[in-house]
Amino acid sequence: MFILEVVKSNLIKPIFMKILKKIVFGLIVLVLLAQFYSPEKNLGNSNLETFFKETNAPVSLQVVIKTSCTDCHSNHTKYPWYNNITPLNIWLKDHVDEGKSHLNFSVWNDYSLKRKAHKMEEIMEEVQEGEMPLNSYTWIHKDAVLNSQQLNEMVSWAKENKMKYELQGGFEDND
Ligand code: HEC
Repeated sequence: MFILEVVKSNLIKPIFMKILKKIVFGLIVLVLLAQFYSPEKNLGNSNLETFFKETNAPVSLQVVIKTSCTDCHSNHTKYPWYNNITPLNIWLKDHVDEGKSHLNFSVWNDYSLKRKAHKMEEIMEEVQEGEMPLNSYTWIHKDAVLNSQQLNEMVSWAKENKMKYELQGGFEDND
């Protein structure tokens, strides 16, 4: 309270306002300078053909996956305009990095049979529970929301592939 009294007193007020102005000005300069910063982008070859072929994905499902998943789960992201704004670009990069580290359709060939089966199981779970695509994504990409038909198609496709990989590997994925 004492501090407030001092700040309010006419003696200190002008000095306090001066400092406050400097801080606000400094912050504005920082935000402007930060706009020159741009984190590395995910603009490699998406190479989805191998994945689609191996998993017998119907064209309709390929379209859904490209619309709703590959921005975060492949080596190629279609960036929105606001990716030019810091810190939004940092936040987006975080999602892409994290999404890719869990599941990357561009490197499907590098996954073991066991991992492939498990990822198919995860896909079934994540989309059925409405966890994927991320809410923060569908909030802006309205067309990425799966309708019930698209959801069913994805789940039965994932189920079939899970069984196929288990059969090929002679194991069962129970996690
Ligand atoms: C905006 C980015 C984004 C989009 C779009 C997105 N994901 Fe994800 N996904 C993530 C992130 C981040 C994680 C890891 C953190 C988590 O599980 O929430 C993840 C995790 C997953 C996992 C879990 C993998 C594992 O083994 O743990 C699956 C499966 C998955 N996503 C499938 C999908 C599918 C299918 C779609 C499209 C229908 C999709 N995702 C769309 C960002 C995204």
